[in-house]
Amino acid sequence: MVRISLSSKIYISLLFSGLTPLIIISLLLIPLIDNIDTRLLYNISMIMIATILSTALISRFLSLHIAEPIDRLINSVKKMEAGKFEPVSAKTGDDLDILIDAFNSMGREVTKVIKNLKELDEAKTQFLSVTSHELRTPMTPIKAQLQMLLKEHLGGLTDKQKKSLEMIERNTERLDRLLQELLTISRIQSGRLKLIPKKQPLKEVVEETVSFMKPFAGKKNIDIEKEMEEVSEIEFDRDKIIEVIENLISNAVKFTPEGGKIMVSLKRYGNGAMIAVKDNGIGLSEEDCKNVFKPFFQTDEWRSRQVGGAGLGLAICKGIVEAHGGEIRCESKPNKGTTFSFYLPPKIREKIELSQEEVVTGRIEGFFTE
Ligand SMILES: Nc1ncnc2c1ncn2[C@@H]1O[C@H](COP(=O)(O)OP(=O)(O)OP(=O)(O)O)[C@@H](O)[C@H]1O
Ligand SMILES: [Mg+2]
Repeated sequence: MVRISLSSKIYISLLFSGLTPLIIISLLLIPLIDNIDTRLLYNISMIMIATILSTALISRFLSLHIAEPIDRLINSVKKMEAGKFEPVSAKTGDDLDILIDAFNSMGREVTKVIKNLKELDEAKTQFLSVTSHELRTPMTPIKAQLQMLLKEHLGGLTDKQKKSLEMIERNTERLDRLLQELLTISRIQSGRLKLIPKKQPLKEVVEETVSFMKPFAGKKNIDIEKEMEEVSEIEFDRDKIIEVIENLISNAVKFTPEGGKIMVSLKRYGNGAMIAVKDNGIGLSEEDCKNVFKPFFQTDEWRSRQVGGAGLGLAICKGIVEAHGGEIRCESKPNKGTTFSFYLPPKIREKIELSQEEVVTGRIEGFFTE
């Protein structure tokens, strides 16, 4: 729709309301033209031209005075909506000035608050990055010493001592995983996540990851099925995408009761590819589905902590997928199951091109759900 500015609208309406009586008078004069003295006709024409000009000038002045400052205000509000504050620099000398001044001081306040929040966020990310890095450094010698002890290189161990050391090793691994996750999240949040992209087949990567995860799912008697479509080679970071698929499968196993089912699918999606991990587990509410990608978010904290985890896996998945230029989605129904699907473009950060059919049917929405 063509948008006409407020000042143009006021200008046009004032002009028309000023000119309408003139047009009516002219129409009434036409039949009398032959009987009117030429001098009088000349005078009438002059008066009309002067009236038209003054109407145009007055209309322009009023529209400039009233509507243009409002137009400027509207433009600034729109820019602010898009995250950029530009003060309105109009002075009308009337009540409109109060509105403009209030808007300008509100804008300055909001800008200040946003700046403070950004600084706070940067400080938090930096703190996260430095602490997780520093805490990770002693982990390597700790793990090495533990290995030496467990392999009895430093002397024989009783069964009790071995069990105790094994417990320390399990918890050290857990702590190391958590620190690694914290480090990755801080890299994602500060835009420092490095990818090692390579054009390669995706199918083998998905299949290998599924095979690797099968024994883990088997412990809960959960079966992992595959549905693989032939997909042309695309560019991605192999280790990072494996991490995403492992995270999704590990979640599916964690939140699906014994004897459940998981389906991992690979499909073409436009000129890229789509991977989905679907389970028939405990599911998520619509609201939780929107929040699961936030760092540290866990729906049922107690249960999640029981099965292990800090609520960082999906935030990392989202960061990795988005660094590739893709998108990750959650679709779920409580007590029915959950599907996490993500697509990858053919090249890192390249815009994906969908076929006409995919645009019409919105293939990503409900694609993997029944
Ligand atoms: N397949 C799923 N079914 C039901 N709920 C899920 C599923 N996947 C994730 N969730 C919910 O989303 C939360 C966040 O998942 P996320 O993977 O980020 O963290 P986590 O698994 O708890 O811990 P971490 O991955 O850091 O070890 C989970 O705690 C769980 O509540
Ligand atoms: Mg997880």
